[in-house]
Formats: sequence, structure tokens, C-alpha cells
Amino acid sequence: MRAARIVTCGEPPVVAECPDPEPGPDEPLVRVLAAPITPLDLLCASGTSYFGTPATPYVPGVQGVGTVADDGRLVWFPTRAGMAPGDGSMAELARVPAADLVELPAGADPVAVAALGLSAVAAYQALTWRGELAAGEQVLVLGAGGAVGQAAVQLARTHGARRVVAAARSAAARERAAEAGADAVVALEPGDDVAGLAARLTAACDGPVDLVLDPLYGIPAAAAARTLRAGGRLVNLGGSAGETSPLDSSTLRGRSLRILGYTNNELTGGQRAAAIGHVASLALEGRLHVTHERVPLTDAATAWHRQSTGATSGRLVLTP
Ligand SMILES: NC(=O)c1ccc[n+]([C@@H]2O[C@H](COP(=O)([O-])OP(=O)(O)OC[C@H]3O[C@@H](n4cnc5c(N)ncnc54)[C@H](OP(=O)(O)O)[C@@H]3O)[C@@H](O)[C@H]2O)c1
Repeated sequence: MRAARIVTCGEPPVVAECPDPEPGPDEPLVRVLAAPITPLDLLCASGTSYFGTPATPYVPGVQGVGTVADDGRLVWFPTRAGMAPGDGSMAELARVPAADLVELPAGADPVAVAALGLSAVAAYQALTWRGELAAGEQVLVLGAGGAVGQAAVQLARTHGARRVVAAARSAAARERAAEAGADAVVALEPGDDVAGLAARLTAACDGPVDLVLDPLYGIPAAAAARTLRAGGRLVNLGGSAGETSPLDSSTLRGRSLRILGYTNNELTGGQRAAAIGHVASLALEGRLHVTHERVPLTDAATAWHRQSTGATSGRLVLTP
């Protein structure tokens, strides 16, 4: 089979012919139709992640969509590539534990579901399970032009938010946030300080915010915390803008805020499967979509480099 493999940690994968994986007991082969390149794939392959340095060579790709070789079922599947020994989805074939396969609804678009995948699962679970979003609440989504952010804007709406305010960095990202249906979109500027950004965010909101969805941390999170009502929640699920944040104690304690962390890795297989099913159903109904670009597997190295430098206009999805 043809596969993209990480040969050296920190460098893009190399596409080559490799032996087909052998199916195992309760580990069928999946013919891969779509494999997204996500920040988690790059983090794992960097060799510097909290998962440790993976043994090389290995096939990256922590998720994919394909058909089960034995019976043709259309499935979404996760892998532990880069987090534990074993290969991932960026190949023509992947061996996946049968218990991890999530059958997709008939008619689901493999590339669209792959683009949503764990990004949309994170947005959904962080809003609802961790963030306890209630109908009629006002939600502020940071980094709203990314895959997590776009999904969060739409999912907040489908789960009853009365107003969804977005914040994003580039003009293109702000456009994606607006297309996702945000009521207002605030620009994140390179020179932002906490007070200035908090004032702009507050001006875009209709009164105090109930819930902040934060894939950025850093200054944006500290500013967003100042928009929250007493007892409001901020769920952090990424650190794209900073590994630390100047969140001040007076804001935190003065409003009895709840600052929460979220990781997909904490989900049970059942929670993850249910979330994927929900996301795929909404996508099929035309209510959930993230911008994406289909790229042939043979161009994996270039696509990987584009993801690492931010030179994308949406999620890059490899198609073998
Ligand atoms: N906790 C979890 O389980 C979980 C699950 C999925 C993702 N995540 C994390 O969530 C984050 C977003 O993931 P994603 O899939 O949405 O990524 P993505 O699709 O690659 O998008 C990243 C977005 O972040 C924005 N961004 C990057 N650096 C920024 C900065 N310094 N200031 C403001 N915006 C910045 C980019 O804005 P521009 O378009 O303007 O460049 C882009 O829109 C990542 O850190 C990822 O690791 C966590």
C-alpha cells in the first residue's frame, strides 16, 4: 500500500510504498477514504509532546474515515498514532480495533466528516459536557476560524445559545467565523493587551457572557474571562496563543468564575462514538460544516508543511 510515514520526528511525512498491514483478531482493515491533518498529528510527530517521542518510522493520523475491507461499512475510526506504538490513518489501509469503529449514517460525506472529526467532537463535548451549555445562554468562541472554533459556533447555536460572539485573528479566519453563523466577530490583533481586548469583546456582546470556548489561552483567554457573568464558565482546550495566560485573580475570584480544562483523551469510547454520530448526523442535515480542502495522499508532505505554517484556508484532508 501507499502510506505517508514520519521518518524523522519534527519533519513532514514521506510518502512511500509499504507492506499492507495484516488484519488481526477483532482488528479489521479499513480502506481509508479521508484522513485529516490536525494540530494533534503535528504535536505527536514533533517528538516533543507529553506523549513522548514516538518510534519511527510510523504512519501518522489520529483519525480517519473509510470502508471496512470485509463488509464495506462506512466508518469513522480513531488511532493512537504518535501517542502509542502503531500506525495511523494517513495510508491506503489502516488496521483498527473493531470496538473503535463508528458506523456513519448512509450518505455521509467521508471528507466532510473527516474534516469535522475530533475537532468537532472537542467543540461539542467542551460546550455541552464540560461547559454545561444551557438554552438561552450567550457564548463567546475564541479562535473561531479554526476547525474547533467553526464547529463550536455552529454547535452552540444548534444547542440553544441565544447569541454567539466569535473572535479570530486573520481576516480569513474572521470570514470563516462569520460564515459559521456568528452574530458578531471581533478581531484579535497582534499587539492586544488584556484590557483593550476585553473592552472590544464586551462591546460585541449583549451583556455578560455565560460561557467562553477557548482553544487559544494566552491574552485572549484572560480578556475573555473579563466578559463573563458571575459564575460564568471558560473551557480551555488548546494553547494556540500561549501556554500561559495573564488571567488576573480579581476577575477570577471576584466573579466566582469556573475555569475548566478539556481533552478528548478523557472521553470514553462510548462518549466519543456518540459524539461522532451526532456530528455526522448534523453534517448530513447540512447544519454542521468546517471549511476544508481535499489533498491527494501523495502530497502529504506539502500539506503537512502548510498545516505547520498556518498556510491553509481550512482543514486539509488527505485522500488516498
Ligand atoms: N483538547 C482537545 O481535546 C482538543 C481537540 C482538538 C483541538 N484541540 C486544540 O485546539 C486548538 C485549535 O485546534 P483546531 O483544530 O481548530 O486548529 P486549526 O483548525 O489548525 O485552527 C487553528 C486556528 O487557531 C488560530 N490561531 C493560531 N495561533 C493563534 C494565535 N496566536 N492567536 C489567535 N489565533 C490563533 C488560527 O488563526 P488564523 O486562521 O488567523 O491563523 C486558526 O484559525 C489547537 O491548539 C488544538 O491542539 C484540542
